[in-house]
Amino acid sequence: MVRNIVTYPHEILKKPTEKVDVIDKEVKELIRDMFDTMYDAEGVGLAANQIGVPLRVMVIDTSPKEDAPPLKLVLINPEIVESEGKVKYKEGCLSFPGLSVEVERAKKVKVKALNEHGEPVELTLEDFPAIVFQHELDHLLGITFVDRLKGWRRRIALEKYKKLQKEKARAG
Ligand code: CO
Repeated sequence: MVRNIVTYPHEILKKPTEKVDVIDKEVKELIRDMFDTMYDAEGVGLAANQIGVPLRVMVIDTSPKEDAPPLKLVLINPEIVESEGKVKYKEGCLSFPGLSVEVERAKKVKVKALNEHGEPVELTLEDFPAIVFQHELDHLLGITFVDRLKGWRRRIALEKYKKLQKEKARAG
């Protein structure tokens, strides 16, 4: 089921999510809905709090991006174990419709999480999948991509977003 995507400045996007203790029916349904919602919005990653559920769950599917390896992931309680290098990329966010900003992140990350069956997984992500992962992990920690910008860059991005929101409201 496609759910509504919460947009900034909704409070749920600013708070860290809770770890998942048990992967029950509700969590499984959440994961299905997150994929439905992400595909419907043509995104490549989604964090649970973006659909209003404050749990530490993310989904990723990079296959729509042609020059990236197709990778479909469900990560529960994800953590970064190691990170390496730096990469800059112009990111978008389903919770900031229309806005894109260049963010610097680690080029390579080693990640620990549980999969949808509750089994521990460890994987190394590099470049685009690493960027998507770090963007979604930030969401789960209550951090949005504009928070990764400093000073005037952050102000300009937020002003631009406000303007986009106003234009959208005017267009109905
Ligand atoms: Co986002």
